Amino acid sequence: EKGWVTEHLYQYQGCWYRTPSAIQGVIWMQEHFKPRPADVLLVTPPKSGTTWFKSLLFAIMNRTQFDTSTHPLLTTSPHELVPFMEMFLHMNIPFPDPDPLSPPRLFHTHTPFTSLPQSVIDSQCRIVYVSRNPKDVFVSFYCFLQGDNNSAIRLSFEEAFEQYCKGFSPYGPFWDHILGYWKASSKWPERVLLLKYEDMKRDSSFHLKRTAEFIGQPFSSEEEKQGLVHEIIKLCSFESLSNMKVNKTGTLRVGYLTVDKNSFFRKGEVGDWKNHLTAEMAERLDRIVERNLDGCDFSFDDSK
Ligand code: A3P
Repeated sequence: EKGWVTEHLYQYQGCWYRTPSAIQGVIWMQEHFKPRPADVLLVTPPKSGTTWFKSLLFAIMNRTQFDTSTHPLLTTSPHELVPFMEMFLHMNIPFPDPDPLSPPRLFHTHTPFTSLPQSVIDSQCRIVYVSRNPKDVFVSFYCFLQGDNNSAIRLSFEEAFEQYCKGFSPYGPFWDHILGYWKASSKWPERVLLLKYEDMKRDSSFHLKRTAEFIGQPFSSEEEKQGLVHEIIKLCSFESLSNMKVNKTGTLRVGYLTVDKNSFFRKGEVGDWKNHLTAEMAERLDRIVERNLDGCDFSFDDSK
């Protein structure tokens, strides 16, 4: 299919990818990944807050001796702290042995539910799925690609929007991605937690605690008294992360792609779509969401 990121998009198991290499990475992951029961898998569609939730989960899972002056997030990009699973093949990273005694690991993937490795489905590992309202995702994606040297073509905003509405976007159709994990979460609520970017913005403390509990690492009342929940939220805020030197300069190798580190930070707000989409465009996307997510109790509070 014609793509808006690269000249073509390639389909695998019903999902669109920007290159055949991306598909190879997914197949490799399907064949090699051996989760441990305590592992946590963060899953996001692109531009839904991956960088933010990588940081939050990393901070939750590595909070013994939490120190804001020496924290790993101060010196290492969240994308290096939390590996992107389907890129392991392209980065020559072997999966570590599934030693059940070592601490829980944290991985990230953009892969849709139907393409997750069977080993993940069969295991007890937890899946944290984050979605974001599609209007902000589209705007974020388009702006990201404007500065992305890996994109071979440059479509106009309107042309790209047209493609997005038809479901032609990397890891799209976006509604299938959300629907897949929504169904999984309804079936296995103890294994799949659904979070929304907008909810985490609105009530960070509540959703951070909920996430920690879900992955089996709840905050103790002692930790809460010490203000640890607040410290983590502050450390991982847009203002904090985007102003760190480690996230502002230089590039990052993401598998076969090289990306500017600062391209993961733009505005970090809910509702920026209002500055970019016409009323007609917004209405059209709302209708697509309504139609395709019909029947599930899933909606986005995307106005602010
Ligand atoms: P905007 O382009 O709307 O600003 P991803 O990490 O999945 O690529 O998503 C990138 C989006 O998340 C960008 O959205 C980026 O600004 C936003 N973002 C990055 N860090 C964030 C943070 N700490 N808090 C909130 N949003 C953040």
